[in-house]
Amino acid sequence: MDANSQTPELLRLGQEPVDGEHGVQLQLVEALRAELERNGSCGTTAELVDRLLVFSDMHFGSEELLMRLRSYPRYGEHVEEHRRLLAHLREIDERVRRGGEAGALADELRRWLVGHIATHDRAFAEHEGWSAHA
Ligand SMILES: [Fe+2]
Repeated sequence: MDANSQTPELLRLGQEPVDGEHGVQLQLVEALRAELERNGSCGTTAELVDRLLVFSDMHFGSEELLMRLRSYPRYGEHVEEHRRLLAHLREIDERVRRGGEAGALADELRRWLVGHIATHDRAFAEHEGWSAHA
């Protein structure tokens, strides 16, 4: 499946691989929400959370490296946001492993992720002069 096609037009920043990676993150969050909604097996849910954690850690790391290379002035606050998102994901991970309800946390995670792309990531895209319509 084309990950980029899963990134809504409004969230596209006009730069690969960033857009494609956001598409993968959004797909994984959607799969997790669906799994939690249908009360899927704990093993499958935990596997999805694990994939999301590993992938997000990699994606945030590559974004952070790019920001450092470009001496991005808002690097610090952007990294703080990444840390908060990862901490939230770890909270979901713990909740799922304890067999607790995590649907509301996953909904919140999706809102945060979409909000992060639409504000913090877009600000970096504008700083870099990326264009979704190029
Ligand atoms: Fe980011």
